[in-house]
Amino acid sequence: MNAVVSTSPDYFHALYADDDPFGYRHRWYEARKRALLLASLPAETYDAGWEIGCSNGELTAALAERCRSVLATDLDPRAVELARARTAACAGVHVEAMRHPQQWPKDTFDLIVLSEVGYYLAPDALDTLLTRLPASLREAGVFVACHWLHPFDEAPQHGRQVHAAIAQALGAPAFRYEDTDLLLEGWPVSPHSVAQREALR
Ligand SMILES: C[S@@+](CC[C@H](N)C(=O)[O-])C[C@H]1O[C@@H](n2cnc3c(N)ncnc32)[C@H](O)[C@@H]1O
Repeated sequence: MNAVVSTSPDYFHALYADDDPFGYRHRWYEARKRALLLASLPAETYDAGWEIGCSNGELTAALAERCRSVLATDLDPRAVELARARTAACAGVHVEAMRHPQQWPKDTFDLIVLSEVGYYLAPDALDTLLTRLPASLREAGVFVACHWLHPFDEAPQHGRQVHAAIAQALGAPAFRYEDTDLLLEGWPVSPHSVAQREALR
């Protein structure tokens, strides 16, 4: 039996012949998904965010409005270039070429976002990423994952498998949104709810 491998960097290299291969800049589906993700974040603002697999920086630019600083990483050099251009006017954004989990930032973050990336990783690579993740997440932090729920040939894993692996590693999510197309879940480190933090209960 052939081992399951992560999607090849060559696949992304070919995709980025187009500056917006996923339609982040014109699809309502994508704008709505970004709005859902941003609305789900328990804190109004974050000190340091990390977006894993930032593509052309559309979500990065939105995260920059909620974070004092954002590290955005992507394995594809053209995606990194596009994300740098997209976020050039955003304060505190730093975009770096990195392939995860083999490469890893040394900083810690109070917001880590894995959006539409997990299913490109082979199960063992995703497990390694999830093993490394808690050391990068600060005490008041939150990890948010969001994935497309329809299988496609280029991804070695299904979105549901990704979220099941995360739940296996980090426990049950504290919040979730699901519809026919996407699953969005979050794992805050703190057990205190948004209302508790504002002394509403
Ligand atoms: C579908 S885009 C997600 C963009 C963005 N996070 C969003 O949801 O709007 C996936 C990106 O992840 C990058 N990627 C895939 N596997 C990766 C890995 N192992 N390490 C870093 N980046 C990766 C790809 O190059 C691609 O740009």
